[in-house]
Amino acid sequence: MDSIVVTGGSELRGEIPIAGAKNACLTLMPATILSDEPLTLTNAPRLSDIKTMTQLLESLGAEAASMQDGQVLTMSSHNLDNHVADYDIVRKMRASNLVLGPMLARLGHAVVSLPGGCAIGARPMDLHIHGLEKLGAEIELKDGYLHAKAPRGLKGAEIELAFASVGATENILMASTLAKGTTVIRNAAREPEIVDLADCLRKMGAQIEGDGTSEIVIQGVDRLHGATHPVVTDRIELGTYMLAPAIAGGEVECLGGKISLVESFCEKLDAAGIHVEETERGLKVARRNGRVSAVDVTTEPFPGFPTDLQAQMMAMLCTAEGTSTLHETIFENRFMHAPELMRMGANIEVHGGTATVHGVEKLKGAPVMATDLRASVSLILAGLAAEGETVVSRVYHLDRGYEKVVRKLSSIGAKVERVKE
Ligand code: EPZ
Repeated sequence: MDSIVVTGGSELRGEIPIAGAKNACLTLMPATILSDEPLTLTNAPRLSDIKTMTQLLESLGAEAASMQDGQVLTMSSHNLDNHVADYDIVRKMRASNLVLGPMLARLGHAVVSLPGGCAIGARPMDLHIHGLEKLGAEIELKDGYLHAKAPRGLKGAEIELAFASVGATENILMASTLAKGTTVIRNAAREPEIVDLADCLRKMGAQIEGDGTSEIVIQGVDRLHGATHPVVTDRIELGTYMLAPAIAGGEVECLGGKISLVESFCEKLDAAGIHVEETERGLKVARRNGRVSAVDVTTEPFPGFPTDLQAQMMAMLCTAEGTSTLHETIFENRFMHAPELMRMGANIEVHGGTATVHGVEKLKGAPVMATDLRASVSLILAGLAAEGETVVSRVYHLDRGYEKVVRKLSSIGAKVERVKE
């Protein structure tokens, strides 16, 4: 398993291109199942999760081709000949469950393994099941697999989500595009990835309104046709790289970034003393003065502070002036980066869903271990300003969600290298 070695101390200057959003691409790809015509995605990120989703779609009988070094993906679900999403693939990546809604809508049946727990929490699928059953699906759990069928097809319905679940909104949205009649999803997730999915589905002929608000209305249609769609910019990669100059000093322009993708995150950066300026190419970020100030953060569904940027924010707050508190309200176990940051000298107390970070002057490089995707990148960020060397092991987590991290950080002056073990 590879490690990434970071030597702290360099100020960062230059520009970083932000890739297409992993969490948009992972819901756009299963949308191909809804049509027998090809769907082409441009600006696709080059990530191992995208490869896993490609494998899953091919296991169902879809054809997938990637061009331009993986930035263009063309998928065709003309002859789907398997309706079982196998545990071996689903356990690797929870987003595999996003084939459930499209398969029910197109094929009328699906067998999808429950994803199982993951490092950051149990992550059940009760909200997905509730919504799809309201559309007329019959779903039962057998041997760890969801057996779903819609013998009489799907019928539009009014669905209220107990929690604004991103995945449940996506599964129900995709399924309802081919349901008979009108579907209303209330307390729907409002993430930019939902709007991106709706934009793509409309290009395929779907009739959708209200995406981006908590009430989405879908008029079902008989069939969807092919389309070409650019994947929206990755707001989590954007926020991650905005924190690099905030932590290490200097000034970096994140190309393709827009304030609208990271509004609540930028409010917290501003409160911490980080200057963010929107240019015609992206977002320019610099630390206004020597040391950042402590801020309090509570993660919430969009447009609130994103849970996927909580670990990275904590890395910055470890050396802030004062004490910060981070409340993680989305996942039950998303502070695994804290003990690793403490190995670097951070002063953090974790009680349940709250982490209290007492800022220290400087962190010290140390061997640390990545535990999940966002925790791994927070350790690299912390290493950028730590004294000496930080060795982050198990970086396969990183490859799931960040393309070319070493190249991107090195290009702005960071001393980072990947070591094969
Ligand atoms: C998506 O996961 C993202 N993944 C996650 O990003 C992100 O953290 C999450 O949304 C929240 O924004 C993708 O888009 C592929 P949820 P998802 O359904 O859809 C509970 C990353 O780092 N819940 O909004 O799985 C669930 O347990 C990943 O890129 C139920 O209880 O998130 C969790 O506590 C990590 N029942 C909370 O809701 C359900 O049926 C949020 O889940 C569904 C979810």
